[in-house]
Parts: sequence; C-alpha cells; structure tokens
Amino acid sequence: MTLSTTAIIHQTGDASVFSIEQTKVALPGAHEVNITHTAIGVNFIDTYFRSGLYPIDLPAVLGDEAVGIIDTIGDGVTEFSVGQRVAYSAAKGGAYSERRTIGINEIVAVPDGIDDKAIATSLLRGMTVEYLFCRLYELKAGETILIHAAAGGIGTIACQWAKSIGATVIGTVSSAEKAVIAKQNGCDFVINYSKEDFVAEVTRITNGKKVDVVYDGVGKDTFMQSLDCLRVRGLMVSFGNASGKPDPMDVLELSKRGSLYLTRPTLYHYTRNREELVESAARYLNMLEQGKINIQVGKEFALNDVADAHRYLLQRDRVGSPVLIP
Ligand SMILES: NC(=O)c1ccc[n+]([C@@H]2O[C@H](COP(=O)([O-])OP(=O)(O)OC[C@H]3O[C@@H](n4cnc5c(N)ncnc54)[C@H](OP(=O)(O)O)[C@@H]3O)[C@@H](O)[C@H]2O)c1
Repeated sequence: MTLSTTAIIHQTGDASVFSIEQTKVALPGAHEVNITHTAIGVNFIDTYFRSGLYPIDLPAVLGDEAVGIIDTIGDGVTEFSVGQRVAYSAAKGGAYSERRTIGINEIVAVPDGIDDKAIATSLLRGMTVEYLFCRLYELKAGETILIHAAAGGIGTIACQWAKSIGATVIGTVSSAEKAVIAKQNGCDFVINYSKEDFVAEVTRITNGKKVDVVYDGVGKDTFMQSLDCLRVRGLMVSFGNASGKPDPMDVLELSKRGSLYLTRPTLYHYTRNREELVESAARYLNMLEQGKINIQVGKEFALNDVADAHRYLLQRDRVGSPVLIP
C-alpha cells in the first residue's frame, strides 16, 4: 500500500469545495494496475459534477483523464508492464490524484514523442471530436459545418480535424484574439458572435444554403439560434453546456425549421467497451502523431491548486486548456 495526495469533494458547490488529503492506494487487483500520474486533464464535465449539475455519489475524486507511469501490475495483466507510459480519458472519476488504481480496460498505451501534458490536456477532447466526426455522423469532404467556440479546447481540435477531412468550417468566437486562433486552427470563416448575429452571418456566408451540421458545446446561449443555421434535414449536435444547459424545447421546433435531426451525445456512450475506447484513442493519437492536429498546452496548476484550475477553466477569456501537475 502507498499514499497519494488526492483532491476530494465531500459536497457539491463552487470551486472551494475541494479538500486536499492523503489517501491510501491499495495494491492492484486482478486486471488492474497502479499508476503514478504525470499530468492530469481538467474538463468542463468535472465542473458539472463538482457543482451538482450532474449527479454524483459523495465523497468523490473527480477527473476523468490523465497520463502516468504504471508502477505496479495486478494478476492477469499481460498487455501492460511496469514502467510503461499510459493514458486514460473516460474513467468516470479518480484522476485528481497523485496515484491511483485503475482497470486495464480503461487505459491505453501512448506513443513516444508526444508530450504527457499535451495528451493529458487533449485526449478526452480529441476522443470527443473523434466520435463526433467519425462515428456519430461521418463528416465528409465538401460538407459545411458550424463549430461554436472555435478557439476553445474542443474547437481547436475540431477545426483542424474537419479541415483535414476537407469540410468547409465556419467557427464562432467571442473576441478578436480568439478569431486569430480560430483562423490558425483552419476555420474558413470566423464569426465574432459577441458582436455579430451568427445566424445572419451563416446565412450570408453560405448564400442562404445554411450548414449540414452544427456542433454546439456552448449550450444555453446558442442552442435555438444554432437550429436556425441548419439546412433542411440538417443535424444539430448539442454536446455541451459551457454557457449553461439549453432551455427545454418544443420538438415541433425541429419540424418547423426543416425536419432537423437533434442529438445530445456524450463520450461515455461512444466508449462503451474496450474496442470503442481503443479505436477512438488510436484515431486521435494518430492524428497527433501525423501532425494533423497541433495542441498548445495551456496553463499549468499544481494538483493542490485544483480549485484555481477549475476557476480558470470557467474563465471565458482563457486561451488553452489547463493541466494539473501532481
Ligand atoms: N458531450 C461530450 O462528449 C463532451 C466531451 C467533452 C467536452 N464536452 C463539452 O464541450 C464543450 C467545450 O469543452 P472544452 O473543454 O473544449 O471548453 P472550451 O471550448 O475550451 O471552453 C468553452 C468555450 O465556450 C465558450 N463560451 C461561451 N459562453 C461561455 C460562458 N458563459 N462561459 C464560459 N465559456 C463560454 C468560450 O468560447 P468563446 O469565448 O469563443 O465563446 C469558451 O472558450 C463544453 O461544453 C464541454 O462540456 C462535451
């Protein structure tokens, strides 16, 4: 048994609910390994669990993604070995810790040559873009899409990935600084939605045709107008709540706007088994290895400062996604 510095929540609430404690890490059981983390990702879903927006059993250790080194293996583990660098991104908690035990079905080997922090800060977001573009709906060359928050974590990956497929990408951002980043990410057209009416702009840019798919992770502030950006029988992918969860909607709104399709997906339903998880991670890591996607690591925080990392993640003017260093 070893000890781990671990961030625990005993109640839901604002970022001050984190308590840094020493916890015991038992030896791994069959088909489990113990990992010493080197870098830990911080995601919006962690803030949804912390605030109580998504229900959670307490006390809880949040955090779904991290990179680390295997320090002990349990019985029956043949695919992984002590000293190996591994990552995970859909773990349903436990990452906000120095050390942890985890089942081998949840981890993947990571290729040499990609920095731990770059993986820890982007694997969950990258696997999200993977299922959005490759499995939820197969995005094709020549299609036109709208991606909100195009300079954000998911936006940065999504714009680069969509361009590599050959799609035309319209991105929204809230500032001139972010517009530059969105352009660098490969956006063909950038709309500053804090100043411009993005429905009117999308209509103008597409000569009235509108877009095939909208990817909306902003939620409350953009949801209904996003529907107005879609062509007849277009697809609305509402995948996040950065501005709050969308208001309840009358389903007839989909019919009125052109027999639209609507889905509200989550990564966990696209990584339901080992095969899906490995396929998704491999596709994303392959894009990184090939240099088709470039990740700028965001601000670093010590694990003890996880509350500040949460506050930082929620700052709208932030550029880059935070990473925790144990
Ligand atoms: N469903 C899934 O499987 C899944 C998986 C991972 C993440 N997500 C969701 O994807 C979304 C993006 O995640 P991310 O980690 O990549 O975040 P992010 O894009 O780095 O940050 C969120 C962005 O949303 C925009 N935004 C608009 N209104 C905001 C507000 N009131 N407060 C804060 N930001 C606001 C900001 O961009 P502008 O300033 O340019 O508007 C901000 O940069 C989140 O909603 C997250 O929950 C979903």
